[in-house]
Amino acid sequence: MRRVYLDNNATTPVLPEVLEAMRPFYLEEFGNASSIHHYGQHARAAVEKARASVAALLNARPAEIIFTSGGTEADNLAVFGLIRAGDHVITSAIEHHAVLNSCKRLEQMGCEVTFVPVSGHGEIAPDDVRNALRPNTRLISIMMANNETGVLQPVEEIGRIALEADVFFHTDAVQAAGKVPIDVARIACDALSISGHKIHAPQGTGAMFLKKGTLIQPMLYGGSHERQRRAGTENLPGIVGLGKAAEMARQWLESGGPAAMAAMRDRLQEDVLGSAEAAGVNGLGAPRVPNTTNLWFDFIEGEALVIALDLKGLAVSSGAACSSGAIEPSHVLLAMGLSQQRARSSIRLSLGKQTTQQDIDFALQTVPETVTRLREISPLYRKQTVG
Ligand SMILES: Cc1ncc(COP(=O)(O)O)c(C=O)c1O
Repeated sequence: MRRVYLDNNATTPVLPEVLEAMRPFYLEEFGNASSIHHYGQHARAAVEKARASVAALLNARPAEIIFTSGGTEADNLAVFGLIRAGDHVITSAIEHHAVLNSCKRLEQMGCEVTFVPVSGHGEIAPDDVRNALRPNTRLISIMMANNETGVLQPVEEIGRIALEADVFFHTDAVQAAGKVPIDVARIACDALSISGHKIHAPQGTGAMFLKKGTLIQPMLYGGSHERQRRAGTENLPGIVGLGKAAEMARQWLESGGPAAMAAMRDRLQEDVLGSAEAAGVNGLGAPRVPNTTNLWFDFIEGEALVIALDLKGLAVSSGAACSSGAIEPSHVLLAMGLSQQRARSSIRLSLGKQTTQQDIDFALQTVPETVTRLREISPLYRKQTVG
């Protein structure tokens, strides 16, 4: 059976070049980067090469990159590491749970948190962030691109607001990295999170940019790895993979990758909508990353559609991967003002660097016919057409 994967916001396959770059670091060059012998020196050199590559993707300095176990750890490090009891934090209602639940924990620890709303298109208004500032605000944490809708947030304006107010600005760039150019100087952020497995590096790898001179309270205590900001022996092959993926992402961004991917995504979106009635795009009209589209199909359960598509060989998702299996509709779509029903009827399709035009053709054949079939057996839909 043919299988097509359009769930790259959940995770991406490791690219062959990335795997090849990693291979020697499992076998011959397996040293501990803290050891002083030959093996250790080679491992250290490889970690530092990867650090320079990740820094280049973000226009940061290598010393500003801290390797972590993924996006969740980088988000937690920013949220808990920059805050003290009694501080006020501004975040948004549409953050990934890595930020959202960290902020909820902060509330339990005696901090105050403001969750700013979003527009119907899924955009945060910089003025809402400005208006939420208080004398004890210490951190603004607003994501760069939303994982469910792909909507890009006005992080440069928010960065300016944070700078003027002299508060820390962290942005979760997990879904933006490798899809749109990122320049930490332009964003004027103090901290930024990325995740390896969203950019074709292995799962369980990630990094945090921390602006030079910013003091952070570590989450892990142990050796003096990562300049005493993240203890624990470095994940050498994973870091090498992340470095290679960052290098490839940079080349892809510079060689017109985003425009070509957006054209494929737009073809998918337009042709699906052209052949299915009572359907639309969540976040349409807002700037979005080039690989994501989030579609609603009234009278259909998103979960049912995901399962029916999977049976035909097409992998997509309803809402965020971490919440699939949960019955609640997506907090992101609800925050955008969608009704419970429309939020439940939404699915996300997300492309990766391995996605081909043939994959899009397959989706264009599969999605409309599955929507039609599910509607035929939907009592809600029959009531509407008969009534
Ligand atoms: C926006 C966003 N932030 C953070 C994360 C968590 O990253 P990781 O899976 O590397 O822990 C994800 C993963 O889905 C995400 O989409």
